[in-house]
Amino acid sequence: MSRSFFIQTVGCQMNVLDSELLAAELCRHGHETAESLRCADIVLFNTCSVREHAEEKIYSALGRLKNAKDYNPRKIIGVVGCMAQKDGQLIFRRAPHVDLVVGPGRFHRLPELLDAVAKGRGPCLDVSLDRADGDKRAVRESFVPFTPWRDGPVRAAPHQAMVRIMSGCNQFCSYCVVPGVRGPEQSRPAVEIIDEIRRLADGECLEITLLGQTVNSYKDVSGRKTIVLADLLEMIDAVEGLRRVKFVTNHPRFMTGALLEAVRDLPKVSPYLHVPAQSGSDSVLRRMKRGYDAAAYREMIDRIRLTIPGAAVTSDFIVGFCGETEEDFQRTADLVRSARFKNSFIFKYSPRPNTKAAELYADDVPDSVKRRRNNELLAIQNAVSLEDNRPYEGRTVEILVEGPSKTARKRNDGSSQLVGRTACDRIVVFHGPRELIGRIIPVRIDKVDAFTLFGSYGNSMNAG
Ligand code: 5AD
Ligand code: SF4
Repeated sequence: MSRSFFIQTVGCQMNVLDSELLAAELCRHGHETAESLRCADIVLFNTCSVREHAEEKIYSALGRLKNAKDYNPRKIIGVVGCMAQKDGQLIFRRAPHVDLVVGPGRFHRLPELLDAVAKGRGPCLDVSLDRADGDKRAVRESFVPFTPWRDGPVRAAPHQAMVRIMSGCNQFCSYCVVPGVRGPEQSRPAVEIIDEIRRLADGECLEITLLGQTVNSYKDVSGRKTIVLADLLEMIDAVEGLRRVKFVTNHPRFMTGALLEAVRDLPKVSPYLHVPAQSGSDSVLRRMKRGYDAAAYREMIDRIRLTIPGAAVTSDFIVGFCGETEEDFQRTADLVRSARFKNSFIFKYSPRPNTKAAELYADDVPDSVKRRRNNELLAIQNAVSLEDNRPYEGRTVEILVEGPSKTARKRNDGSSQLVGRTACDRIVVFHGPRELIGRIIPVRIDKVDAFTLFGSYGNSMNAG
């Protein structure tokens, strides 16, 4: 029976992609998208467990739906994704009106489970095995990679697409829930990836972002020859119609010379590398189990700068990790000053159940100190970003126009402000007709701040 559905997504790009794929699957099964959470027959929360705050937001949103079935008895409420895997049955206990809980390794079963709930056979729970609940193979097999084909309309922008090249993670950084909720690392066969990208490029897609938790440890061993990320990029670069390729998230341990050379040499591959450092202190990095020290990270940055001059490097940092002293923090601040990231995402440490850090170390940095360090680091990063954006004033850059700017979207008055990105992932805002959306065009930069380049397009511009 056809029902309307609404998916509310929180968390990372991987979740945004999962929601697109789920939407495509549900449409294929005869359901249709709803305008809002309130009017939908099926409401799915695609959730994140990386920090506690994200989970609390979901539980509050679920609380607000407590009486939703009084107004629409057909309403089905589902919790899917990382928090579903992590909390399982607990979700039914905390929110008894939830009908469905499905982990990211079980998405392929979602349409079938929704049917069961609709027929009154709910509530349903389907999650993958815990690492302790089976041998390696059984655990891996319980995390089924979810890569169905999706048609254009479920994507936010037809000219851009995310493509998963691997799922799961084997790194077990001590603070992180991902290896538990997304399971062991599994690389997708290159032929399948290339086939998907060809089909996307045959449509209107100009830019692909390859996704993986540690995207640069990609390794396809299913054929005669092992294919690593550098090889895969070379294959993707040859896909006709495609203009740009980006990939996230890199782990510093797998930043090989071959990969950097591929980024340098392949014209469609963007000189943009998101490669989180997390900290600049050796003792913190050791407790985080990151597998490198600050010197090795700095050496990697030097190699990037030497091989790909002009590359944009971005990072993530966790401040206030267990036992982080003021001196440790200053080492991180020094790294941010010297590495010259295009931007950094900074997070306050949030202890997560079933992680090594939560088991072994006390969360002993007070929240006020975490907040101060977060603000300090952000201020240092913003100063770097502004300084490095300055030279763009007066330059002409090539951007892919993504759509109306945030301001134009908020006003919703058809205002002509558009937003696009350079190959280096710099955000550019300018005025122009909406027909430019989905095109790659030159824009002259007039002024900058730490986050945005402001430019102009058209006659006044002396670009070729
Ligand atoms: N607390 C705070 N931040 C975290 N991250 C991962 N786990 C935690 C945690 N427990 C951050 C890391 C990672 C980003 C996606 O989220 O910086 O790179
Ligand atoms: Fe989490 Fe570390 Fe894996 Fe990234 S590499 S997903 S931080 S365990």
